[in-house]
Amino acid sequence: MPVRERIILSLDTSDPEYALDLVDRFSDEITIFKVGLELFVSGGPEIVQKIIKKGKKVFLDLKFHDIPNTVSRAAQAATRMGVFMLNMHTSGGFEMMKSCRDLVVETCLKENLSRPRLLGVTVLTSIGPEAIKNELCIPHSIRTHVKHLARLAYNAGLDGVVASGHEIETIKNTCGKDFIVVVPGIRLSWNPPDEQKRRITPREALRSGADYIILGRAIMREEDPLKALRVVLLELMSS
Ligand code: C5P
Repeated sequence: MPVRERIILSLDTSDPEYALDLVDRFSDEITIFKVGLELFVSGGPEIVQKIIKKGKKVFLDLKFHDIPNTVSRAAQAATRMGVFMLNMHTSGGFEMMKSCRDLVVETCLKENLSRPRLLGVTVLTSIGPEAIKNELCIPHSIRTHVKHLARLAYNAGLDGVVASGHEIETIKNTCGKDFIVVVPGIRLSWNPPDEQKRRITPREALRSGADYIILGRAIMREEDPLKALRVVLLELMSS
């Protein structure tokens, strides 16, 4: 897959008009745009439909986490909207992920829809070793826990996971090279880290085997985000 198709641009704004403007501005470089909580709560399903109408793919990043019936039906609704990717928290458990997958597959077959990639969120990149131990009371390292959650997602039939760049190799070794790994927490070498505890650069992430990387503040806070993206693309294509 060409490098530019492996970059997901995160539309983190509460202004749907601005989001559409970004889609137009980045249209030559980016195929997949991420609609997360902020934009979806502000713009609703219409923003997703408008982006798809522009011929772009949407990663609906709402990180579902609820009882199996609720998550399955939410995923079914997203499938009918035509999203390319959607996600749920792996910590929602095996049954939640499995029933979600089953309903999405069944709906696609019955209604002749294309099936979205279903991803499980493992451990957020804003969580560090202290929080995992002291706040979440998980008695393993982050890597061991991510590995466990990725295997759970794989066994439930999901297509892949969202995880930090530091766990890609472990996940691929555990679940196979075709199991998709989407990596957020991307920072350029000169960016501030913000709350991202397990960050990685775009080049390191792709080298480690990430299938997709999510670019958000890493380029959006630059004076000229489009120029920053082109610099990243050039660097990735030449490495
Ligand atoms: O911090 P940054 O601006 O790079 O985050 C970009 C996007 O990636 C945000 O929409 C955030 O919700 C998402 N994200 C994620 N999982 C993480 C970290 C960030 O989905 N572990």
